[in-house]
Amino acid sequence: MDDLVSLCKRRGFIFQSGEIYGGMQGMYDFGPLGVELKNNLKQAWWSSMIYENDNIEGLDASILSNPTVLKYSGHEDTFSDPMVDCRECKSRWRSDLLEDDKCPGCGSKDLTEPRPFNLMFKTNVGPIDDGDSFAYLRPETAQQIFTNFKNVVDSSSKTLPFGIAQIGKAFRNEITPRNFIFRVREFEQMELEFFVIPGTDEEWHKKWVEIRLSWWEQQGVCSENIELYDVPKDELAHYSKGTIDVMYKFPHGLEELEGIANRTDFDLGSHTKNQEELNISANVMDNNSSNTRLAIQDQETNKWVVPFVIEPSAGVERGILAIMNEAYNLEQLDNGKERIVLKLKPHLSPIKAAVIPLKKNNEDLVNLAKNVKNSLQKLNLGRIILENTGNIGKGYRRHDEIGTPLCITIDFDSLENQTATVRDRDTMLQETIAIENLQDYLIKKING
Ligand code: GAP
Repeated sequence: MDDLVSLCKRRGFIFQSGEIYGGMQGMYDFGPLGVELKNNLKQAWWSSMIYENDNIEGLDASILSNPTVLKYSGHEDTFSDPMVDCRECKSRWRSDLLEDDKCPGCGSKDLTEPRPFNLMFKTNVGPIDDGDSFAYLRPETAQQIFTNFKNVVDSSSKTLPFGIAQIGKAFRNEITPRNFIFRVREFEQMELEFFVIPGTDEEWHKKWVEIRLSWWEQQGVCSENIELYDVPKDELAHYSKGTIDVMYKFPHGLEELEGIANRTDFDLGSHTKNQEELNISANVMDNNSSNTRLAIQDQETNKWVVPFVIEPSAGVERGILAIMNEAYNLEQLDNGKERIVLKLKPHLSPIKAAVIPLKKNNEDLVNLAKNVKNSLQKLNLGRIILENTGNIGKGYRRHDEIGTPLCITIDFDSLENQTATVRDRDTMLQETIAIENLQDYLIKKING
């Protein structure tokens, strides 16, 4: 973990938020390379969900949430972790994460009884802070998908099975944020709510577990470092009938990367009006003030049903940590030196190619390099940069460390023969390529 944290800071992937004032626990900022990597990961998820499935629609809903939504979702009552205080050193901890019931700070066993601590952040809405006019910062993106169910169905004419997907911020006032970006208070989720006919839910649950495992592998997360955890009944969230957690061997241990839950008809059922007219199976929150029936007609029976929902929910930050951990390599070279290389999948790399003129003050070389950069940038594959430091070796080292798949050197042969030297990050092999063929070469490298 220390090596990853150091690389992230040194090369501009991730910084502690508000560092110049001592930072803030559980908050991180993504720097110039981090934001590219994060956007690429989100884009890969978005494409795999929405562009590759005509029966999945996207959504971008508000973060500030009407408290009524989170009351009827069950979050006001149940979204809490058990908290204890250490009487010795006055620190606070999550009691379910303690080892041997000891305070991790001072080792004392003199702890208070655990009490529930609700993880939702509240903020005031409007100019008068009278305690009533508040909103929650959403603790999951899912609820706005459920409350928009009818809007999406009506505007896109969907029939079952279909999904609504969303990527966005979620906030949790974690008692003990820890392990770099693994457990933070502000993070992003990539969530799909996939609505199915009741009775077909278990089959769809299995299918989505398989789809998600294969997707993580495509992002470079090796299946050997993943384990599935069938969450026992007494550990399930209040809405879940069954959850499979995708566990990854993070540098600090085996922990959850993504949760895939069968949320049944709990959420739509809890938010729907006229619950008694519908055949809802879950133990829903009743007496709500919803003015909408969140149900859909089954095409075969013509009956109104509240669909069951399968929810693959992945954290962006945990995804980045897993992907960086997989990609990080310290290699021993033949000349006795070492190199750090980030073997990211090319579609995730923050920079797709660096164009490097051999001499930084040679106008002809620099101009040709600029032209090459501009022509590759036009392909819209991601960021291409002109690296004009005049030190090729240093350029290669930097780009190995940040995971740039290709370095393209423009030298005197380039001026004479219209060729460039292309160096591959992983093999370090160099090839001479005609400049006119560079576009195709790059497309193949990035898209596979
Ligand atoms: N809508 C379902 C839901 O929110 P969850 O298991 O609580 O389920 C889903 O969260 C995913 O969100 C987790 O698998 C994890 O990747 C991410 N996540 C949850 N809490 C987090 C935190 N405090 N910091 C970073 N990521 C978190």
